[in-house]
Amino acid sequence: MRIDIITALPGLIQAPFNHSILKKSIEKKLVEVHFHDLRDYAVNNYGKIDDAQFGGGAGMVLMIEPIDKCIKELSSKRTYDEVIYMTPDADILNQKTANTLSLKKNIIILCGHYKGIDHRVREHLITKEISIGDYVLSGGELATVVLCDALVRLIPGVLSDETSALSDSFQDDLLAAPVYTRPANYQGIKAPEILLSGDFPKIEKWRHDMAIKRTLEIKPKLLES
Ligand code: 6GU
Repeated sequence: MRIDIITALPGLIQAPFNHSILKKSIEKKLVEVHFHDLRDYAVNNYGKIDDAQFGGGAGMVLMIEPIDKCIKELSSKRTYDEVIYMTPDADILNQKTANTLSLKKNIIILCGHYKGIDHRVREHLITKEISIGDYVLSGGELATVVLCDALVRLIPGVLSDETSALSDSFQDDLLAAPVYTRPANYQGIKAPEILLSGDFPKIEKWRHDMAIKRTLEIKPKLLES
């Protein structure tokens, strides 16, 4: 999978890709991530990429021209499955969307910033819009990291034990069962004895029962679907 990220703040977004699962997926060549600085497509020599909004009002709006030039340059080299705009006024990311996107070959992710972007970008250049929750972030960069982490870990081969992505919370509309490790007794607080019993069919049943119990308690809506 190839991910092209368009941002006015590349420095804000790059570090997470140098750590943990994102880093490993890139090292294993299962994922390619390329950052594109919108200022390289500025409309003048001063790096202008935004302007005041028509009709008046506070805040600068990202212009269509730098975004269009960047997307056109990328699209001339390969076909993109999706051009995604990260924005709080969109459907919220869930596991189903992450699963679907993890199967794509080439995607562009555009990070919004400032007051917003010229709406013509959204109408003509974007194929999908994603929010990560009902709250406002200063820009789309951190949301883009969240999206990339959620989908990269689903690509076969990225996680060493492939089943571990399958047993994630949400993957089968159930929250995961609780997990424990040594010591079995920490200052009188004990791990469930069944997990130490070696009776694997019983352990599997316990895990499934716990998954249902936790889902009913914490996210009952998941069980309705
Ligand atoms: Cl994708 N962008 C911004 N700026 N804020 C958000 C968001 C995205 N998702 C939730 N809040």
